[in-house]
Order: sequence, then structure tokens, then C-alpha cells
Amino acid sequence: MTVSDPIVRPASGWVLYCRPGFERDCAQEAYQRALTQGADLHIAEAQENSGYVRLSGQARPPHWGSLVFARQVLSLVAMIDPLPDRDRLTPILDALPAHPAVFSDVWLEMPDTNDGKELSAFTRRFAPLLTDALVERRRLGGRDELPRLHVFFPDKRRAWLAVADPTQSAPWPMGILRLRMPPDAPSRSALKLAEAFDMFLSAEDQQRYLHDGLRAVDLGAAPGGWTWQLLRRGLRVMAVDNGPLKGIVAEHPWVNHLRTDGFRFRPDRPVDWVVCDMVEKPSRVATLMANWLVGEHARHAMFNLKLPMKKRLEALESALNDIESIMQANGVRYRLSVKQLYHDREEVTVYLGREANPRRTRR
Ligand SMILES: C[S@@+](CC[C@H](N)C(=O)[O-])C[C@H]1O[C@@H](n2cnc3c(N)ncnc32)[C@H](O)[C@@H]1O
Repeated sequence: MTVSDPIVRPASGWVLYCRPGFERDCAQEAYQRALTQGADLHIAEAQENSGYVRLSGQARPPHWGSLVFARQVLSLVAMIDPLPDRDRLTPILDALPAHPAVFSDVWLEMPDTNDGKELSAFTRRFAPLLTDALVERRRLGGRDELPRLHVFFPDKRRAWLAVADPTQSAPWPMGILRLRMPPDAPSRSALKLAEAFDMFLSAEDQQRYLHDGLRAVDLGAAPGGWTWQLLRRGLRVMAVDNGPLKGIVAEHPWVNHLRTDGFRFRPDRPVDWVVCDMVEKPSRVATLMANWLVGEHARHAMFNLKLPMKKRLEALESALNDIESIMQANGVRYRLSVKQLYHDREEVTVYLGREANPRRTRR
């Protein structure tokens, strides 16, 4: 045997994709979740700036939406290391798990890093070869509900095989919801609010809660990307910021630009939405948003919590606990969803909504 002979090892555990730089937060959060599930997993890989995390052990992965820092959560089934330079297909086919007999789809993925991007030319060339080989062996083309096969290349020398239940995992390759920048939006932040709506609200909820004639307040609105996103959906917007609005937002008849302090401002009558992108301590923004909903100034809130450089998970937990304490102390039923979006950097995005029925969930 030479050093380049592929070694295929069966494996178990969770593979999670995350924003590069957030591996420790992602691993710690997943590990804590495993503990609460009573699962015996340990953190096997969480190298800084790698863009992925691996936990080793036997347990079903949680729903990807229930973790803040994971873009995707997969069940690992095999690891190939080293992956040969030439015939990469054979070891991958050798490593296929016996179950399920047929996959609904196959995705070839790599970390969302510069090194990862260098693998994309290879995966584009390799994908049709692998797809054809799987079809020929009748392992591909099953119903949409069947597990998906993921072939993840942590780097060019390794390939991991993993499976995902389509109902429990992110429906986008690499866990990234890609959106195109609208040419007339005043800032790239517009993409963040669009992603947040798609992440947290079903198509039905978007139709119900985001339509012509509704009213919103945008705290920290300038230059106007979030306001632009609300206008697009037909909402009237009170845009609160001492800074200037740009582009079409600046002179739009449905925008009322108020140069005042976003922490003190309250509307004369309730609005449907409050959104907030002010750069402030997470606990201060969290408390503000919970008080808006408790005070019935708005029914839905979408906001960012900027994370500190250190102890990010602790700061986030503390801010979310503040929200839950305020809502519960006031007897308000709510839905709270939290995610680090693809368009988020040192922050996470939160949806908080008043609920009519007795449902109190955090995902
Ligand atoms: C990250 S930017 C918002 C970007 C905006 N969401 C967009 O899509 O274009 C943060 C904004 O919050 C505003 N801001 C910070 N503190 C504020 C406060 N206390 N009251 C009102 N605006 C504030 C800043 O002036 C700045 O324009």
C-alpha cells in the first residue's frame, strides 16, 4: 500500500457547517444540545476559520433550525482520508451506506472559505460523474422525502459522506440561502432582512404578515436597506435614524423619516412590525424589542443582536433569557426564532412575534 491509497472508514456523528470564525460557538452550542438530548457526543473538529464542525458519537442530529450557529446539520456515515488525486469516484462509491437504498438527491459541498472556493471547479466537474454513477447503481432519484446524500470535502485530501433528512435539514446547498442584490436597494443590508423573512416565516406567514397596507417602524434605518425591503412588500414605514436615507427610500411617499432616538421612539398607535438594526449591546436591544411587543406597540419584531468579541454564546443566551423573562412575566404568548444568517457577520438575527394560540417555542 502507498500513502496515497484511499482509506475509507465508517463514521458516526454530526457534521455542521457554520460561518468561518464561529466554529467554537457552533460546536459548543451543538455539544450542549447533545447533552440535553442525553446523547454521548464529543467535539472532534472545530478548527478556527475552517467553516465546519464535527461531533463524534451516536445520536440523531437536531433540527437545523433549532441551532443558532449551524447553517446545516448532517449525519456523518463515512470518512475518506486520503482521497486519491485520480480516481475519487471509486472510494466514494465504496463508502456509500447501505441505507437508504435510494437517495432523493446528492449534493457536493465544501467549506465556505477561500480554500473551500478553490474546490468548486473540481466539484462542478465531478458532480455529473458521481450523479451518473449513482443513477446507474439505482441509488439516486427517489422521492423528495427520502434522505439526501451529502459529499463534503473539508479539503482536497478528504471526503466525508453524510446523509440528511430533508425535513430536518437546511434546504439549500452548503446551508446558504443565496439572494441576488437588488440594483436599487440602498444597502446590502436589504439582503439580510429578505433572508430573515425567508428563514423565519413560511410562504403562508409571509403572505399573511407582510402585505400591502400594513405599517412598520424601522429603528436605525439609515441608509435604508431594511426600509426598502418593507416597502417592496407594500408596507408603510416610519424610518427612525439621525442619519440620511439614500436612493428611492429617501423620497418615497410611504416613508416617514424621523430623526430621533430609536431607543425612546414609540408610535402613536400600534404598528404591525418593528425592525431594528441599531448597533448596541445585545441585552439592550433584546429588552427594547420585548418591551415593544409587551406594550403592544407592534405584533412582530425582527432584529439583530450584535455579538461581543468574547463569550458570544453567553451574551446571546443572556439576551434571549431577558426576552423570555419579560414575555413570560407579562403573560404574553410568543414565538422566538434565532439564527446566524448567511448575511449576518458578528451578529445573529431574531424573530419575535406575539402569538394568539398557546404556543411558546424557541427554535
Ligand atoms: C447598521 S446601520 C443600519 C442599516 C440599515 N438597517 C439598512 O438596511 O440600511 C445602523 C444604524 O443605526 C443608527 N442608530 C444607532 N443608534 C441609534 C439610535 N439610538 N437611534 C436611532 N438610530 C440609531 C445609526 O445611525 C445607523 O444608521
